[in-house]
Amino acid sequence: MDPDDVLPMRPMRVLFAASEMAPWVKTGGLGDVAGALPDALAAAGCDVRVLLPAYPRLMQALPQRSLVAHVDRLGGALPPARLWRAHLPGGLQVLLLDAESLYARDGNPYLGPDGRDWPDNGMRFGLLARVAALLSSGDSPLTWRPQVLHCNDWQTGLAPAFLHFLHPGRAAASVMTVHNLSFTGSFDAALMTDLGLPWHAFRFDAVEFHGRLSFLKAGLQLADRITTVSPTYADEILRPEFGCGLEGLLRHRRDRLSGILNGIDTVVWDPARDPALEVCYDAATLARKREGRAALQRALGLAAQDTAPLLGVISRLTEQKGLDLLLQAADRLLSQRMQLAVLGSGEAWMEQGFRDLAARHPGACAVRIGFDETLAHRIEAGADLFVMPSRFEPCGLNQMYSLRYGTPPIVRRTGGLADTVVDASGPPLHDGTANGFVFDAPSADALAGTVERAAALWRDRPRFEALQRAGMRADFGWHVAARRYLAVYRAAASPADAD
Ligand code: ADP
Ligand code: GLC
Repeated sequence: MDPDDVLPMRPMRVLFAASEMAPWVKTGGLGDVAGALPDALAAAGCDVRVLLPAYPRLMQALPQRSLVAHVDRLGGALPPARLWRAHLPGGLQVLLLDAESLYARDGNPYLGPDGRDWPDNGMRFGLLARVAALLSSGDSPLTWRPQVLHCNDWQTGLAPAFLHFLHPGRAAASVMTVHNLSFTGSFDAALMTDLGLPWHAFRFDAVEFHGRLSFLKAGLQLADRITTVSPTYADEILRPEFGCGLEGLLRHRRDRLSGILNGIDTVVWDPARDPALEVCYDAATLARKREGRAALQRALGLAAQDTAPLLGVISRLTEQKGLDLLLQAADRLLSQRMQLAVLGSGEAWMEQGFRDLAARHPGACAVRIGFDETLAHRIEAGADLFVMPSRFEPCGLNQMYSLRYGTPPIVRRTGGLADTVVDASGPPLHDGTANGFVFDAPSADALAGTVERAAALWRDRPRFEALQRAGMRADFGWHVAARRYLAVYRAAASPADAD
């Protein structure tokens, strides 16, 4: 027996597999998580390494690297690949999976220049999952072997299936984290052959889902443990409204499922030391936040006024985020002198809706379509209130950034939003529990009414500042989540955990 398995104080060896990592390659919260959680795991005593595709941005950022393995003869039509080892500036070790024909593409890691999924995404992330499994098995070309493979979303979801079918008896334990159940990674069954998966795996209790190969389902079915990114979402996905057809499977495996609330990177998101801001501030110097607001108004061409609040939005523009509700409510809100700053990109009809809104309200509504990290920080700092009316939200990071930046969030009560935001109408403001505004109905009316309630409180300076300070005081650092993941890893790796 491996001595690490009997000495619980020895660092747990974990391979963290992901398809994006902030700040280099990021389309949303998964990138933020992969950019911060592994460091927190290391600080909590894990020996953690991160496996990522060797995207050009990562290869350029990490020129000091060594070739550690050639991986070939992986089965099916999978191309040979090289594995590079590099260290991030903070010391974290990453393994870069280099298969030029699949990963040497700039920009969004999932979409081509036409804005559609790359047609070979099944091979691209199938290979990533295949290699994640290989490295987590007794057949690995590396001497370092993880005790646990931690997979994230559909892009690495197939790895537990490779472990189960191709490395039986020689496999590390596996943990599957769901960041968003609505992206399942669903492909034509013919991909089974290309990926070298045996056809007996194409079953309802393995990788098959409605006649197709589903990467996410494979992970949910075959990983030793499942986690998702907030306790409330962990409950919600057991119900048909949120379960995307996987609720039955999740209910069946609910004793293996837990919700661990994401943290935030408190170094990158710190209003007292944020290099993106013209004016930094903290809870003791809140008045300076108003200068940030004025700077944002100037930068975005908004009128310089402070008689009504400036609302901020930073988001993927999709139905998930409920921003169509804001589009419906916006004329009503902007007619009350409120202002709106929107940064986002996504579905064409929603992008157009926001462009039209800005054209109807010059000086009151500014819309920037695109991905802009610096502007995201400036909106968090410069807005008075942050709007996040999501229909579902596995965790959500922006409401936590907003809390830290003294920008009380207005959210719908779902997923991680329900777990992090406490409505100002509940507990007395001076007891420091309330930190934002929460509504229930997914309707434009409910949203508008809540924004109006928030605007009224904004005019009551001392009470509003109490709310801001409550949010700024909270500790959303990753250390809490890291300890919980460690407990999940230990449970997954314990022989008593086997099905
Ligand atoms: P999701 O992962 O569902 O998109 P999260 O709230 O977990 O939602 O994370 C989104 C992350 O992406 C946050 O860090 C947010 O600031 C960032 N983000 C989203 N859209 C943009 C954008 N257009 N420009 C810059 N950052 C963005
Ligand atoms: C997903 C979810 C989001 C979550 C993020 C990181 O993209 O939509 O709610 O915060 O993953 O876990």
